[in-house]
Amino acid sequence: MAFINEHYLKLKAGYLFPEIGRRVEEYATAHPDKKIIRMGIGDVTQPLVPEVIKAFHEGVDEMSKAETFKGYDNSGIGYAFLREAIAKNDYQARGVDISIDDIFVSDGSKCDTGNIQDIFGFENKIAICDPVYPVYADTTVMSGKTGICLDNGYFEGIIYMPCTEQNGFIPDIPKQRPDLIFLCFPNNPTGTVATKEVLTKWVKYAFENKSIILFDAAYEAFITDSAIPHSIYEIEGAKQVAIEFRSFSKTAGFTGTRCAYTVIPQELVAYDKKGTAHAVKPLWMRRHTTKFNGVSYPVQKAAAAIYTPQGKKEVKDVVNFYLENARIMIQSLTETGFKVFGGVNAPYVWVKTKNGLKSWDFFDKLLLEANVVGTPGAGFGPSGEGYFRFSAFADRNNVLEAMERIKKLELLGDMEVAANRLFKS
Ligand SMILES: Cc1ncc(COP(=O)(O)O)c(C=O)c1O
Repeated sequence: MAFINEHYLKLKAGYLFPEIGRRVEEYATAHPDKKIIRMGIGDVTQPLVPEVIKAFHEGVDEMSKAETFKGYDNSGIGYAFLREAIAKNDYQARGVDISIDDIFVSDGSKCDTGNIQDIFGFENKIAICDPVYPVYADTTVMSGKTGICLDNGYFEGIIYMPCTEQNGFIPDIPKQRPDLIFLCFPNNPTGTVATKEVLTKWVKYAFENKSIILFDAAYEAFITDSAIPHSIYEIEGAKQVAIEFRSFSKTAGFTGTRCAYTVIPQELVAYDKKGTAHAVKPLWMRRHTTKFNGVSYPVQKAAAAIYTPQGKKEVKDVVNFYLENARIMIQSLTETGFKVFGGVNAPYVWVKTKNGLKSWDFFDKLLLEANVVGTPGAGFGPSGEGYFRFSAFADRNNVLEAMERIKKLELLGDMEVAANRLFKS
């Protein structure tokens, strides 16, 4: 008899995005004449930039000749040319000394943030922001470190760190001591960023408690404020307590092409049950090279092209295009009377619904009445209830049209509320 991993049964019915897809499909099938504007899933809409495409083509051409053909990447962790470009441009250029041996190229940060728990013991207590990218909680459940999902939406055994308007969407140090702490800045979904002071507080805490920070910087490219750190390693001592995840997905439109990397500095240690320290990097090296066989050569070649002077410029233009979408959304939604957060150093705009409307109700209202799709905040965790995420990854005309439709819908709604009040008084 084959037994299943019963921890999967604890997971709620579906991942957030399939549920959104289901509702949208149902509506679209019943109303084929309606033009639905999708700003829900945070997937890029702009094509790969010319410099990346050129390198991609060159990589493919090299695969067609025996002299330049590439099979397995023998290092198992990415070609040196890509890791060198990463170390130089993403770290050394910001005064951070990361060795190319600390960089592990992969096919995505979703996999990396999910797989990282393989190398950490079962007894670790995991801290997760609420709301946040759902993968951290779901993979913690899959790994068997939690109990059931409680009525309040929290899984038993996870330390949740509510990120609310009151704390500026920045988690407070939890009362219970965590061993592994997932932090994500710029944040998905709230679009907030962590200052140097905030990150310093966490690094200090991790150091004092022998904890490890799992720092997801997938949206680092969207930071516009020069005072905000792009990497946790800009904080002194962080190399001893943090793993960093980076992705080319949102930085350079690689969501369909797949390339990312994880940094594990040699200095980072975790402990066995006797309290003996062990370097973490060799464990990830073992895991990565055992369960993964590398990103394709043309893709790595394409990824490296974002670091050429022309590549940097082209990629920045695309990032700025999305940030302009975010600016338009912030302006329009604010004019429409919404309280709006994020969107300045991040591609996500976090909106408080009006009159305490629940986030899935707001989702249905927007879908049915404005034919606009966003993401209900509650899908990212219980503290996201009453909020809604708009993604700036969209075509400009769609952004403008969606904002217009929402404005009309909401102003009409506001007039009705006012009329009702007048009528009742
Ligand atoms: C916070 C965060 N981390 C990681 C990812 C996944 O990135 P990748 O495409 O590299 O798997 C996403 C994607 O939406 C994300 O929002």
